[in-house]
Amino acid sequence: MAQGTCGARKNVPARVCAQQVLDESVPMRMVVKIAGALLDDAEAVRLLARQIAQLTHEGHELLVVHGGGKIFTATLKRMGIESRFVNGLRVTDRETRDVAMMVLGGLLNKRMAGAISAEGQPAIGLCASDAGCFLAEPMMYEEVVGALGFVGYLTGVNLEFIESLWRAGIVPVASCLGLGADGELYNINADHMAAACAEYVHADRLIFMTDVAGVLDGKKVLKAVSSEEIENLIRQNKVSGGMILKLEACKRALSAGVSQVRIVGGNNENGLLSAANGQKGPGTRVTTSYPSTATGAGVGH
Ligand SMILES: Nc1ncnc2c1ncn2[C@@H]1O[C@H](COP(=O)(O)OP(=O)(O)OP(=O)(O)O)[C@@H](O)[C@H]1O
Ligand SMILES: [Mg+2]
Repeated sequence: MAQGTCGARKNVPARVCAQQVLDESVPMRMVVKIAGALLDDAEAVRLLARQIAQLTHEGHELLVVHGGGKIFTATLKRMGIESRFVNGLRVTDRETRDVAMMVLGGLLNKRMAGAISAEGQPAIGLCASDAGCFLAEPMMYEEVVGALGFVGYLTGVNLEFIESLWRAGIVPVASCLGLGADGELYNINADHMAAACAEYVHADRLIFMTDVAGVLDGKKVLKAVSSEEIENLIRQNKVSGGMILKLEACKRALSAGVSQVRIVGGNNENGLLSAANGQKGPGTRVTTSYPSTATGAGVGH
């Protein structure tokens, strides 16, 4: 599982493909992560669906992963279930997990897949249990496995199945759940899931579409952040909450060989297209090494 080749260039090792992404005309394999908050905004959903459809028509292979943070929390609240977070991770008892299946695997997943399909590009909403497409193991917290309940991390992707969807011209849309060896579904932080997916499918690019314009330093959007800078941003309390998890996920993807990682505002009309098609896209580019001014370091708007 999760052994494969890179992008649309079958039988070409991922390392070779990483060099080829400089040629924008080459079809690429991309993981696009969509924030849960964006899925509650009909216009944002439409904009993203249109761009996902366009990129697919251009020949790129997209795996869409979505979160559900705020909507999931609001639904739990309506049902009288309290949310508790430890280090940004939601403590997930069985009742909470079952609501995750309904909201993440159901409502939001079908909403996004439906929006892409409505743009003329067939998409399929996937939950981990479908063809065992996303596997998970319970997370260890303070040396105790499962201390956070049904919280897991991604341990495998049924790449053969995902590739069969791409070959059939269908965009897979994944909710952030993983299937455990015990047959239970585990809630996975969507950013960590997207980064792990990017690694398992040997993606060329990983693009996070979020509810802010990028990584902010005060009111300014940082144009680029290096892996080394991430620790400083956290230490100086310049980033917090979900953004810490997102930056950790970016680091993981970069160290796994994903050549371009970017955090972009999801309400930006052509944000995904520009992020997918070039180096000088909107939002924040996360890089392995300290960015030089020539590659767009510093702050933007
Ligand atoms: N320096 C920062 N720059 C930008 N956002 C920040 C920063 N520090 C904290 N944040 C928070 O991080 C949030 C983004 O992470 P969050 O987990 O809420 O969303 P997401 O990961 O995009 O979506 P989801 O959790 O639904 O998958 C922003 O809305 C903002 O409140
Ligand atoms: Mg998040």
